[in-house]
Amino acid sequence: MKTRIILCGACGKMGGNVLSLLASDEQAVAVCGVDLYPREIGIPVYTRFADIQEEADVIIDFSSAENLQERLEYAKQKRLGIVLASTGFSKEDLALIDEYAKEVAIFKTANLSLGVNVMQALVKAAAQILGDAFDVEIIEKHHNLKKDAPSGTALMLADSVNEAFDGKKNYVGGREGIVGARTKNEIGIHAVRGGTIVGEHEVIFAGEDEVITVSHSAASKRVFAVGAIRAAKFIFQKQAGSYEMKDLLAE
Ligand SMILES: NC(=O)c1ccc[n+]([C@@H]2O[C@H](COP(=O)([O-])OP(=O)(O)OC[C@H]3O[C@@H](n4cnc5c(N)ncnc54)[C@H](O)[C@@H]3O)[C@@H](O)[C@H]2O)c1
Repeated sequence: MKTRIILCGACGKMGGNVLSLLASDEQAVAVCGVDLYPREIGIPVYTRFADIQEEADVIIDFSSAENLQERLEYAKQKRLGIVLASTGFSKEDLALIDEYAKEVAIFKTANLSLGVNVMQALVKAAAQILGDAFDVEIIEKHHNLKKDAPSGTALMLADSVNEAFDGKKNYVGGREGIVGARTKNEIGIHAVRGGTIVGEHEVIFAGEDEVITVSHSAASKRVFAVGAIRAAKFIFQKQAGSYEMKDLLAE
C-alpha cells in the first residue's frame, strides 16, 4: 500500500513540486492538501485540518510557521508522522515541537537537500581544525518572495560551526553604522534577497592572508521536494520522537 500524504501548503511553490513528483511515485500518494488559499490542484484542498475527510499516514508541511499547533495536534490525534519542512519557527515554536515529539514522530529540517547536509559536516570539521584563528561569516541568497531572514539553512550551518565552539559564538545579523571591530565570539549572518534565486549558502572562514569558502547552490526547488518525499517514507510508522536528515541518511 502507498504511504498516504497530507500536503500542508499544497498550493505553494514547494507544494506544487511535491505534487508533481508524487504523481509518478509508486510508494507514496498525496490524498489531500491544506492551504490558507485553496485553488484547484487535482486533489481536495481544505483550509483547516479539522475538515479533512481522507485517511492518511504522514503530513508533509511546506507552508509557514503560522498555525503550527493545528498541524501538530492533528498529527497527534490521528497518530500520523509529520515532516516539518517550513522555516521561520520562533523559540516558542521550537519548544512546542519538542513537546509534541514526545507523542508524535516529527522529522524537522530547514534543508532537505543532501548537499547542504554534507556541507554541515564540512563546516563543523573546518571550524574544529581552524578554531578562533579564522573568523566565520555566512552569506545566504534567496528569491525576493522569501519571508523569513536569515534562512533556516543559514542558521543550521551557523549551529554546525558553533558546535565546534561548544555553542559560545553569538549570531550577528547584517551590520550597519559604526559597529566597531569584529569580536572573536561572533558569526556574522547576512541575507541577500532578489529575483528567483532558489537558495545559495556560503560559509566563509577568513584568517590571516587566507580565506576558505564552503558553498552550496540549489538549482531548483525539486531537490527539496525529493528530500521531503524521502523523509515522509522514512517517518511513516516510526516511534514518537525528533528525527532529522542525519537519521534518514544513517538508515
Ligand atoms: N526545508 C527545506 O528544505 C525547504 C525548502 C524550500 C522551502 N522551505 C520552506 O517551505 C515553506 C514554503 O515554501 P514555498 O516556497 O513553497 O512558499 P510559498 O509561499 O510558495 O507556499 C506556501 C503555501 O503555504 C500556504 N500557507 C501559509 N501558511 C499556511 C498555514 N498556516 N496553513 C496552511 N497553509 C499555509 C500559502 O497559502 C502558500 O500556498 C517556507 O517556510 C520555506 O522557507 C523549506
